Amino acid sequence: MAGTDNSLFPQSELMDFNLPYLSSQLIAYIGNKRRLLKFLYGIFKKIELKQRIQRFIEPFAGSGSVSRLAKVMGYETVSNDWEFYSFVINLCHIGLENYERENLFSDKGGIDNVINYLNSLRRPAEDKRYIARYFAPEDTEGSDYRTERLFYTKENALKIDAVRNCIEDWYPGFNLGKKEFKEKVVLLASLLYQCATHTNTSGVFKAYHRGFGGFGNDALKRIMSPIRLEIPLLYESRRKNRVYRMDAGAFLMRVSGDLCYIDPPYNQHQYGSNYHLLNTIALWDRQEFPLTLGDDGRLSNKAGIRRDWKKTKSLYCYRDTAVNEFVKLIDSIDARFIVLSYSTEGIVPFETILDIMGNNGSVKVLSSDYTKYRGGKQSIRRENHNIELAVLTDREEKSQGDRQAVRRMLLEKEFLMLLKRSFYPSLIKNTFITEGDSIVLDKGNGECSRLKMPFLYMFNTDNSSLRGFNMASLNDLLIIEIVDKLKKCLCTDRSEEIDILIGIVSESSSKEERLYYEKRILRLLKKFTFKKYKNQFNIKLKRLKILAEEDPEKWKTIKNGIPDLERIAMLRFAS
Ligand SMILES: C[S@@+](CC[C@H](N)C(=O)[O-])C[C@H]1O[C@@H](n2cnc3c(N)ncnc32)[C@H](O)[C@@H]1O
Repeated sequence: MAGTDNSLFPQSELMDFNLPYLSSQLIAYIGNKRRLLKFLYGIFKKIELKQRIQRFIEPFAGSGSVSRLAKVMGYETVSNDWEFYSFVINLCHIGLENYERENLFSDKGGIDNVINYLNSLRRPAEDKRYIARYFAPEDTEGSDYRTERLFYTKENALKIDAVRNCIEDWYPGFNLGKKEFKEKVVLLASLLYQCATHTNTSGVFKAYHRGFGGFGNDALKRIMSPIRLEIPLLYESRRKNRVYRMDAGAFLMRVSGDLCYIDPPYNQHQYGSNYHLLNTIALWDRQEFPLTLGDDGRLSNKAGIRRDWKKTKSLYCYRDTAVNEFVKLIDSIDARFIVLSYSTEGIVPFETILDIMGNNGSVKVLSSDYTKYRGGKQSIRRENHNIELAVLTDREEKSQGDRQAVRRMLLEKEFLMLLKRSFYPSLIKNTFITEGDSIVLDKGNGECSRLKMPFLYMFNTDNSSLRGFNMASLNDLLIIEIVDKLKKCLCTDRSEEIDILIGIVSESSSKEERLYYEKRILRLLKKFTFKKYKNQFNIKLKRLKILAEEDPEKWKTIKNGIPDLERIAMLRFAS
């Protein structure tokens, strides 16, 4: 039924993925596929070898990254998402053509004029403040996260209020003439992008950081820098692209195409609650979210989530409803080709996906290495090595019953992903046969294969570990055994890992090698720059400082990196 295909797609060289339209003004979004565009491009091109794609349909468009790709590839793009903010953003970037910019805002002196004007607006009067009142502190410097919502700096909140009020004054409601509606959409999309970017969160709006200081340089700049609207990036495709806001199932009942790309939510996180503030700003219905305090003296409704977020409570997010929804969804697709994005962390088991897709035609599984965006800060224990897969179904081709090949491919993928992790050298030594800095794999037929593993800690990420290593010569059982053994040797404790790395740097006589491992120590130590790890941070820092003092030449990178780490730690500990 299923076949695998991992071939690289040389055609991707023809596409400029740095094109601002494909790479900029995309909101940070859980599950967004902006980093997978090259991979998806390759798949779409492969499909084109079989049939010309006229119409591309996307029922779960989200930030619109993949619809943008489809538009650039010249497909008539029909995109849908039931969240209002996504609808607005995609109406602008997908629904509008670049040439239309010329005709918009003619009575206001053109788009540049309008954007400049909005950027120059002064803070609104007290009774016109909404975001500043409910979602930002009285004073950015002296904010208190227990009694105020800190989604934006006060200054940015006032800017949002001023701009959003002005947009509403110019274009009241959404029952507007065609031109006015487009103009409103352009301005809202521009504002939404800024609101999704300069927010005092790690991306989602279920919580905000406890203060406006205390984060890495990049985050701090993003959060604090003043909001300034930009002219939205549009693209000239000369196609009749359309954008809808419906339930995906209803959308698919209505719209057919040649290629349907599906990227439903894959875990329990609901978009309506995670991005509630974007809906609040887009809708501007100014619901009240009083800053009422509970008995503990803290806000009782911490994030000010709209009650109506439940209207878009997605059944794809629950284990007991997702499969059923999925079967219905696939059934209702009227397109020869279906491409589905699947994450190995998804709640629907991959085998089930293969069964459902396999009932509809031939199935190919394609994979790409990808570290996904995760809202919220990373735990010092949590690893982030999921595999992003795409399943391609051709309804006009018979299934080939090749499930075994898919299993093999996933197994190899899991093995290759493991090779990127770090391990306890002592466990590796006890678990595998080792020879110097290699592990020796006994193939069971009298032959051996060697994998290079410097210091028995990590395989070389540049894949030089794999040089001369022939995966195809290992049978499934042997790979399963190696994968199991490797998993048992994984470094799970960052504190212990830093100790291992200190040992490696002390032992190493190569400057280049030390640079690599010292940088890694700094990266790991940065994960401890949170209040709850303060003690561990200080202990490690003290040890590293002593080492750097004793041998400044050897520990040069650490010595140079410590002041920055200390600064971040100080801010975070104080917040
Ligand atoms: C994984 S995200 C899509 C991400 C997108 N590919 C991107 O690159 O930004 C899933 C999207 O599905 C939408 N969604 C969830 N359930 C839906 C439903 N029943 N109908 C329509 N959209 C839905 C969510 O609002 C969210 O934007």
